[in-house]
Amino acid sequence: MREQLHAIGISYWRSATLRAAIKLDLFHLLGERAMTCEQITRQLEAKNPRRVGSFLDVCTVLGLLTRNGDRYRNSELALTWLQPDRSTYYGDLMMHLTNHWNTWAKLDELVINGSAELPFESGFVSERQYWSDYMLGQHNRVLTGQGDNLVQYVDLTDKYVLLDLGGGTGGYSIAICQAYPQIQVDIVDQAEPLRIARRLVKDAGFEARITLIEADMHKVRLDKQYDTVLMSGIFVLQSEAENRQILQSTFDFLRPGGLVIIQDYLRLEYGKERHYLDTMMNLFMQLCFTPKAGDWHGRDVGSWIRDAGFTDVREIPVPTHLAIMTAKKPGA
Ligand SMILES: C[S@@+](CC[C@H](N)C(=O)[O-])C[C@H]1O[C@@H](n2cnc3c(N)ncnc32)[C@H](O)[C@@H]1O
Repeated sequence: MREQLHAIGISYWRSATLRAAIKLDLFHLLGERAMTCEQITRQLEAKNPRRVGSFLDVCTVLGLLTRNGDRYRNSELALTWLQPDRSTYYGDLMMHLTNHWNTWAKLDELVINGSAELPFESGFVSERQYWSDYMLGQHNRVLTGQGDNLVQYVDLTDKYVLLDLGGGTGGYSIAICQAYPQIQVDIVDQAEPLRIARRLVKDAGFEARITLIEADMHKVRLDKQYDTVLMSGIFVLQSEAENRQILQSTFDFLRPGGLVIIQDYLRLEYGKERHYLDTMMNLFMQLCFTPKAGDWHGRDVGSWIRDAGFTDVREIPVPTHLAIMTAKKPGA
């Protein structure tokens, strides 16, 4: 029991080590090579080789590096997920999650006053850096499995016009366009995410199929009707009232027979590990985004969807942290 307490007390050491190694570009520096502490110290232009050695040893005990004699290498974990030039890169998401460090350091204060604090509000990172890590982090998630899940678990074979509300970097829209050549997409989001989306959509070669619309998704007026609306990572950021309102707008955006897809952190009771993550996520969202946010129960979201007029509500369990729910607008 005492060990459990101790482990909780020092768990931030792990997170800090990962963050520092990414910031120092250590995994990229090593690549496929084996390097000594002296070589790494020189490359990092660090002042104290003993300090660098201690740091490398911590990376090693955490399984981020391996050590053979006096040489360090990337572990399989770091080679697979922490090489910035690979499509399996997960480091932006790790930076995004640890950008909220300062906010968690004030947890006691925030529990009492009920407010949220974004990383740039305390000056922990700049606003530009915050958006870049946040959005590229979401993109890491798409490229490391969630994009494939979405197109595999939701059949869009007979769909042609999709609206991606709060589409961020456009990662899911790109995955959908790759899997379904007949689909055209409109993405609605704010200026900063769309700045990144513009580049990624161009790089993917989908400028003709994906249109970016800068607007507030709660107020946007759209002059066409869609057969699919995707909302990914939206419900977790909003209050019940806002989620109910966006479902009502979605109902209006859809043609009869249209499909709404909600992909999010939702509490669907898939076991102990998931319960832990949902409980942590629920607080994280409230502290680090907005007090009205929350990791909502799937059954509550299901009832909001039905109240908006949708039928055929389905929960689709996927083998990742996110959950998927779909429903249909009656008719056709
Ligand atoms: C968690 S991110 C999800 C991004 C993307 N859908 C994904 O799953 O990767 C939430 C997105 O919602 C956008 N968003 C939040 N409130 C919005 C609003 N009122 N109007 C438009 N976009 C909004 C944010 O800018 C952000 O890109």
